[in-house]
Amino acid sequence: MNDNRLLIISYRLPFSFKTENRVTSVKQSAGGLVTAVKSLDLPASAPKPVWVGCADFSPRVWEKYKHLVNDDFEYVPVFLDKTTNKGFYNGFSNSVLWPLFHYFPSYVDYHDEDLNAYQAANQAVCDKVVELLQPDDLIWVHDYHFLPLPMLIRQNKPSATIGFFLHIPFPSYEILRLLPEKCRNYLLNGLLGANLVGFHTTDYRVHFLRSAQLSLGLAHRLGTIENGQTKVQTGAFPIGINYNLFHDAAADQAVVQERLDLKRSYPDKLIFSVDRLDYTKGVMQRLDALEALLRQHSEWLGKLVFILVVVPSRDQIQTYGERKQMIEQAVGRINGLFGTLTWLPIVYRYSDVTFSQLVALYTACDIALITPVRDGMNLVAKEFVASRQDQQGVLILSELTGAANELGEALLVNPLDEYEVADQLLYALAMSPDEQRQRMITMQERVASYDVKQWATDFIDALLTTQQDEQASR
Ligand code: UDP
Ligand code: G6P
Repeated sequence: MNDNRLLIISYRLPFSFKTENRVTSVKQSAGGLVTAVKSLDLPASAPKPVWVGCADFSPRVWEKYKHLVNDDFEYVPVFLDKTTNKGFYNGFSNSVLWPLFHYFPSYVDYHDEDLNAYQAANQAVCDKVVELLQPDDLIWVHDYHFLPLPMLIRQNKPSATIGFFLHIPFPSYEILRLLPEKCRNYLLNGLLGANLVGFHTTDYRVHFLRSAQLSLGLAHRLGTIENGQTKVQTGAFPIGINYNLFHDAAADQAVVQERLDLKRSYPDKLIFSVDRLDYTKGVMQRLDALEALLRQHSEWLGKLVFILVVVPSRDQIQTYGERKQMIEQAVGRINGLFGTLTWLPIVYRYSDVTFSQLVALYTACDIALITPVRDGMNLVAKEFVASRQDQQGVLILSELTGAANELGEALLVNPLDEYEVADQLLYALAMSPDEQRQRMITMQERVASYDVKQWATDFIDALLTTQQDEQASR
């Protein structure tokens, strides 16, 4: 990394404001993108990075409370009007791109007016970026909300250095082609305004390259596409976590206390999962697996507890609201079926948790049960591994996550096969401390060596190289 200023662009800013009893405070946003970008560890000599995002508060609230947000970034909120934001965020981003890119085509709800809102929001953010841009800035655009943004910026600032990173899967062409052709080409052309396009895995990168070829007739050479004046490089940069933060936190006083409380409340085997409320996370399938286990192995009745934390997310979108109801009905049904007056198999919480609570749960549990039906990476899996200073605990991980590529020592499962997951749960419940340690040590070495700092360094270094190449060829 060097000392160029970074301009970061994402939909979600890492904070919002909440007012309780007339007192306003700052609340950290949830999700992997925020966790990762927030933990960028830039050299002390680097200029303060600027983070541009869409505000979920009014300009008046921002003016009044921005002093509460004082950290390593300078924040520039973009204020979209309500209708544009709804069509952009609830509509095209989360009811078209999100389900499609996660292989849920039947959940896609496409409307031309949402695409218009998506275009308008990208234009509004582009205008802000162009206003802020200084020579030698590195622009780093994040995620599916802003696929067209690289090209919009390029049209205004032809010599800008623009990187793009996709935090979700890039689907195979067979899925992408479900989008109307004009829309698909618009999105692909948008990305091709960047100098560097990064993905979590080589598979996602290959899917993108193939889509550019089949949709736009643009072939690549060793992963680089020549798009007019711009050479667009692509790469796989599997996102990491702040390993030391999670590892060290396991010994924090607050975490130790919370862990003791948890162990006291749940002295038997503890299974844990935490996800945003999202159909991609496979919570229903997870509950099916638990039910299968309890049905087939009554010896575990009364001897294990599953703590299921679901973090509220995108609750204005119908499919999300429905998912919440489905989960709550299933939890009620399973607890009703197997529970007794003194024991319930599932402890369900629909809420976010504090950092200390999260690490206490990671370190108190015997098994982390992480079974998305599709996930670009999944940071929760890596955070669980990092926080286990005791080198104990079993990770059961869906093979349909990006993280599974790096965490082969987990018990890898197909989340749709409830009996396979139930079998692996059974295996994990009986796993010896030695085997747990061996698996955990290998995973820890890998998660520690490619942490979030390394991810950002690799991406930014690759972006700088494209900048130097462009400057040399002018
Ligand atoms: N997380 C959070 N608030 C919570 C619980 C968890 O912000 O109440 C964090 C968690 O620590 C992790 C991120 O949310 O860093 C989830 O990232 P992941 O990649 O697993 O899934 P995503 O939500 O991005 O789809
Ligand atoms: C995923 C996406 C992020 C998003 C996060 C939380 O990690 O890749 O872009 O910020 O989920 O979702 P939300 O819609 O609340 O921002």
